[in-house]
Amino acid sequence: MTNRTLTLAALTAGALVAAAGVGFAATMLVRQSPADTAASPRPVFQSDLGGPFTLVNTAGEQVTEADYLGSYTLYYFGFTFCPDICPTELQVIAAAYDQLPAELQDNLRMVFVTVDPERDSVEAMADYVDLFHPQMEGLTGTLEQTDAAVEAFRVYYVAVNKEQDPDYYLIDHSTFTYLQGPDGNNLLVFPFGLGPDDMAGHLQDVMGS
Ligand code: NI
Repeated sequence: MTNRTLTLAALTAGALVAAAGVGFAATMLVRQSPADTAASPRPVFQSDLGGPFTLVNTAGEQVTEADYLGSYTLYYFGFTFCPDICPTELQVIAAAYDQLPAELQDNLRMVFVTVDPERDSVEAMADYVDLFHPQMEGLTGTLEQTDAAVEAFRVYYVAVNKEQDPDYYLIDHSTFTYLQGPDGNNLLVFPFGLGPDDMAGHLQDVMGS
């Protein structure tokens, strides 16, 4: 497959492009999910992502990567104040999930991890993920804990105007969605811009049926 020839360099280039767009998106309202097209970006096969983490779920319970073994898991990193990119991608993930047959849904978890735990409390995360899907999970923690998860997934983020506006600052961040298998190994990295139909198709290819 040609997908395998793509490298992490391509991922990084995409992250920079996506991050550059975040600032310009600040005044935009939430967009519709991007349409699926023939030019839709493709997922990249990438192992060696993820790893040990300790975070706090929306029930206030401490969880680790071991709690996600045994089923497929989609991880996406962002922040609840995100004006555009995060809501768009979480809508794509939720829509892709809804297209899957029930037996695959039962074997797939959707997890939103914040890079902004100072504002994203357990309560804020619970309210936020509920906006997208009743099955979507949210993870926060101390800054040390979320930064450890960020590092494990090689997520990039930087606050843009935190000093000028400590309450309403924005964060540029990478926008990939990671699919991990039941054994905790990373399988695919979905780029931002992949539509829900394509994401659901790739999930079915990997998960079977
Ligand atoms: Ni975002």
